[in-house]
Amino acid sequence: MPDRKIIAVVGATGAQGGGLVRAIQADKSGSFAARAITRNPSSEKAQALGAAGAEVVAADADKPDTLGKAFAGAYGAFCVTNFWEHFSPERELTQARNMAQATKAAGVQHVIWSTLENTRKWVPLEDDRMPTLMGKYKVPHFDAKGEADQTFRDLGVPTTFLLTAFYWDNLIYFGAGPQRGPDGVLALSYPMDDKRLPGIWVEDIGKSAYSIFKRGPEFINKTVGIAGEHLTGAEMAAALTRALGQEVRYNAVTPEVYRSFGFPAADDLGNMFQFKRDFNQYFTGARDLGFTRTLNPELQTFEQWLAVHKEQIPLPVGQPA
Ligand SMILES: NC(=O)c1ccc[n+]([C@@H]2O[C@H](COP(=O)([O-])OP(=O)(O)OC[C@H]3O[C@@H](n4cnc5c(N)ncnc54)[C@H](OP(=O)(O)O)[C@@H]3O)[C@@H](O)[C@H]2O)c1
Repeated sequence: MPDRKIIAVVGATGAQGGGLVRAIQADKSGSFAARAITRNPSSEKAQALGAAGAEVVAADADKPDTLGKAFAGAYGAFCVTNFWEHFSPERELTQARNMAQATKAAGVQHVIWSTLENTRKWVPLEDDRMPTLMGKYKVPHFDAKGEADQTFRDLGVPTTFLLTAFYWDNLIYFGAGPQRGPDGVLALSYPMDDKRLPGIWVEDIGKSAYSIFKRGPEFINKTVGIAGEHLTGAEMAAALTRALGQEVRYNAVTPEVYRSFGFPAADDLGNMFQFKRDFNQYFTGARDLGFTRTLNPELQTFEQWLAVHKEQIPLPVGQPA
C-alpha cells in the first residue's frame, strides 16, 4: 500500500516489535504500514509476518551496511535490542548506535527507541549498595539502553524514548513464575519488599508504541514510560492464587539472596529489582498508568492477563500443600 507511511520495526519477529506489527495491521483504516526487519526472512515467524501482509526486509543491527534498506523510505522506526541473546551491554550500545546512525541517514521522521534507565545516574559505580557488574555497570541490561539515549540525541534523531516495564510474560518464558518452597507451597520470590513492580502484557508495549507513532510529533524528543499496573509482590501472589486455584505466597527475599540464585544474570536481575525497590517512587512515577491507558485504552491488568495466560505458566511438579 504505497500511500501508507512505513514504520520499520526492528524486533518484528519478537515480543515488543511483534506487538507493534500486529497493532499496525489491526488498524485496517490506519495510515501506516509495517515493515518487518529481521536477520532471517526465511524463519517461520518472519514468513508469518509476510503472510499477514508485512513487508519483510533482511537487516542486522550488528551490521551497519545492512541497515540502509531497512529504514529507506520509512516514516517511522521502532528500535529495540535483545540483551538476552548475548548478555553484552557493549553490543547493545553498538547496535543502538548503528540503528541511530542508519535512521538519521535515511531521514526517518519518528524513531521510538525502546529504552530503560541508565541506573548509574541513581546509583553511581562507587555506591556499594549494589555490586558493580562487568566492570562498569550496575544493571547491565538497563544501563546500556539508557546510555544509548544520548547517541540518538547527539545525532539529532527525532526520537521518543520509550521506558518499558517488566513483562508479565516473564512468568511464562523467563523463569519468573512461582516456584515450590520446601513446604510444597508455590511462592513468588522477588526482592521488592512491599514496593510496587510496574508490569505489563508485552503485547501492550507494541500497542502503546503504535499510538505514539499515531500521535506523532507530540512525543518527539520526549521520554515516555508505560505500564499496565503497579503491583506489590503480595498483590501479584494473591492474583496468582485466585487464577491458579492454589495458594501462591509472596517470598520477599533480599537482593543479596536473589543475586545468589545462580541462574544466568541473577546478579543483573537482583540489582534491577533492587533499583526498582529503592527508587520505587521515581520508577513507578515514570510509568504512569493513566497516561498509558490514554495511549492504549485496551491496556490489560494483571488479572486480565492471568485469565488468558494462566495455563501457560509452568508450575514446578510437587504436591500443593
Ligand atoms: N523481559 C522483560 O520483562 C523486559 C522488560 C523490558 C525490556 N526488556 C528488553 O526487551 C529486549 C528484548 O525485546 P523482546 O522481548 O521483544 O525480544 P524477543 O522477543 O526475544 O525477540 C528479539 C528480537 O530482536 C531481533 N534481533 C535480535 N538481534 C538482532 C539484530 N542484531 N539485528 C536485528 N534484529 C535483531 C530478533 O529478530 P530476528 O531474530 O528475526 O532477527 C527478534 O525479533 C531485551 O533487550 C530486554 O532487556 C525486557
